[in-house]
Amino acid sequence: MTAPIARTALRVDGVRLLDVLARLAEIGADPAGGVSRLGLSAEENEGRAFLRELARDAGLVTETDAAGNLFVRRPGGRPEAPVLLMGSHLDSVRQGGRLDGAYGVVAAVEVLRVFASATPWLELPYEPVVVAFANEEGALVQYPFWGSRALSGQLADGLSARDRAGRSVRAYLLAAGGDPERLDAAAWAPGRIGAFLELHIEQGPVLERRGVQIGVVDGIVGRTIFDAEVAGQVQHAGTTPMPDRRDALAAAADVVLGVRRIAATERLCSTATVGYLDVSPNVTNTVPGTVRLSAEVRDTDPERIARAEAAVREVCAEVEKTTGCRVTVTVAARSRPVSTDPLLRRAIAEAAEELGLTRLTMPSGAGHDAQMVAEIAPVGMIFVPSRDGISHAPAEDTAPEALVCGADVLLQAALRVQELVTAVEFGPAAFGPAELDPTELDPARTGRHPTTTDDGGGR
Ligand code: GLV
Ligand code: MN
Ligand code: MN
Repeated sequence: MTAPIARTALRVDGVRLLDVLARLAEIGADPAGGVSRLGLSAEENEGRAFLRELARDAGLVTETDAAGNLFVRRPGGRPEAPVLLMGSHLDSVRQGGRLDGAYGVVAAVEVLRVFASATPWLELPYEPVVVAFANEEGALVQYPFWGSRALSGQLADGLSARDRAGRSVRAYLLAAGGDPERLDAAAWAPGRIGAFLELHIEQGPVLERRGVQIGVVDGIVGRTIFDAEVAGQVQHAGTTPMPDRRDALAAAADVVLGVRRIAATERLCSTATVGYLDVSPNVTNTVPGTVRLSAEVRDTDPERIARAEAAVREVCAEVEKTTGCRVTVTVAARSRPVSTDPLLRRAIAEAAEELGLTRLTMPSGAGHDAQMVAEIAPVGMIFVPSRDGISHAPAEDTAPEALVCGADVLLQAALRVQELVTAVEFGPAAFGPAELDPTELDPARTGRHPTTTDDGGGR
């Protein structure tokens, strides 16, 4: 029988947490502002090396898999036990913030340090393991969720991934300590992970606007990313009469606005964005000949995503018809919307309650590694407020005390997950799709289950 855990007494070391976050933010610090620690770049490799050294200095054990994911464990743990996985990603978008992903990894390492140094030794039914997923953003090598796809066995075509210049992922992967020949070995068998908890900044305005401290994520949006090419005719900007032009940039502008309308006015999906344009030849006095662009649509409902996908294709067809430019569009990546696990949501809500923190159940408009892990394990996600709702930008920030509170919620939720397993003497199946009613598991606790703040969030 597992020894009782003094769960309410355990806390993260907030000073240490903030210090590690600040040191990590220096790796890939962009001279133009923010952090550019792109997935599978030298900077992400440096971030992994930093974390590896930090973990080893703390007496923890580290390991890098064939996809470049970094894992951290307690020494003397039970490698054969099902795992309580905690973490997020170390990479950023170009000129992103210092918290997106990094916060969830650093906080998970901090929780593991607390678990590893607790006396007496914390016997846990799930072995706690931290993961720093590689290349979640896909900002350099165009394959978002690279590491979590590998772990969840969804990287069959991984070696086709390239950067925008067409360079293969292979060399990047080798430099990251991965192994392109053994990518399959990075996949974990379903059942191996009892639960996955990801702590993340909200990246939007909901929690801050409502003055709520903790978000309990109930679902994560799905996303379809398109690559499109608009091909016109390079011509002289002074001599070519306006009616005779096939201006690829003007046509691309129609695509940009058409895609925007899909969400903004037609409301077919929650968001629709063109975020990347590459104009050629990009010369002041030349009519643009080619524009490459990316478009993405998101929603929590797969049917709405399908409708939005069709709408993107219609926009492109219409622009082709009206401008005389050729518009080709292909799907570059798809992720499906997922729900988080009800038991894990409850563990997070109870952890927040124990810590006296207000909370709100809400969907995530950003994609997360949890979404990939959800294919093989139950997942839970915790949000903390983002200052001014800004993310994917240098101004991304969260109050230090909120960062510490979020990490304490992660710690307490992790213990609560562990206790639920012990309480019912179930294996990982207790958190599986069967969705046992938690009130059946431990009736003694049901009186304290909060029920009133789950209002569905503000998006
Ligand atoms: C992940 O960063 C996303 O774009 O949602
Ligand atoms: Mn991001
Ligand atoms: Mn992220």
